[in-house]
Amino acid sequence: MEDWEVPDYPTPEEEADAAQHDMEEFAETKWGRLLDVYARIEDEGAWKHLRQNGIRLVPGDGPETAETARVLVVGEAPGAVENGSGRPFAGPSGRALDQLLGLAGLERSQCFITNVVKYRPEGNRTPSLGEAIVGRPFLRAEYRIIHPVLTICVGATAHKIIHPNGVNGTEALSRMQQGSLTPMRDGSYATSFYHPAFAMRYKRAQEPLEAAWELLGDAIIETPSLANALI
Ligand code: URA
Repeated sequence: MEDWEVPDYPTPEEEADAAQHDMEEFAETKWGRLLDVYARIEDEGAWKHLRQNGIRLVPGDGPETAETARVLVVGEAPGAVENGSGRPFAGPSGRALDQLLGLAGLERSQCFITNVVKYRPEGNRTPSLGEAIVGRPFLRAEYRIIHPVLTICVGATAHKIIHPNGVNGTEALSRMQQGSLTPMRDGSYATSFYHPAFAMRYKRAQEPLEAAWELLGDAIIETPSLANALI
C-alpha cells in the first residue's frame, strides 16, 4: 500500500496568527474604520433618547462602496423604511435620490450615502438642531475616511452641518438649488439641494430641483478634478 502523506496543515497557532492578520487588515480598510465610528455612535449618550422602541442605528451605505466611493451624499435622518432595512435612502426618498443622481450623471455605486442623524427621530419628525450637531463629529470622521472629491448635502440639515458658519454666508444657502459648487479647504467641493422628500410633497419644487441636479452634472464636466474622478 502506498504511503499516505499527511498534508501540511497549519498549526492552531499559525491559524490564529492568520486570523489576527486578516482582522488587522480589515480594520485598516475604509469599511473597517467606519465600523469603529458606528460602534462609537452606539455609545453616544446624546442620542440615547432616539434609541428606543425598535429604533436602530442606520450606518452609512455601505461595505461595497466605502473603498471606491468618491462622492459623499449626506441626508438628514433615516425614515421608517431605512430603520427597517438598516440602510439609508432605501425607501421612496431613495428612489427619488437615485433619479436625481442620474440627472447629474452619477450613480449610487459611486456614492457613499449617510445621514447627519443616524437614528430615525420618532414620528419622522425633523431632527432638532441639537440632535444634528451631535452628528457633526461622526460625519467628519466619515468624511475623513471616505475622502470624497464631492459632498452632496441633501436637505437643509446636512447643508447647515457641513457649512457650520454658513460658508459664503447666505450665498451658500441661496446656491442650494442651483447645483453650483462650493470649494472646500481640502480641495474638494460641496453642493446642496433641497431634499427630494420636499419635492415629493410640493410638486412645484420638482422641476427646479431636477434642473439644479442637471446643472451639477454640467459643473462636474467643467471641473477637471471632478471630471477626472467621476466620469
Ligand atoms: N431621508 C433622509 O434624509 N435620509 C434617509 O436615509 C431617508 C430619507
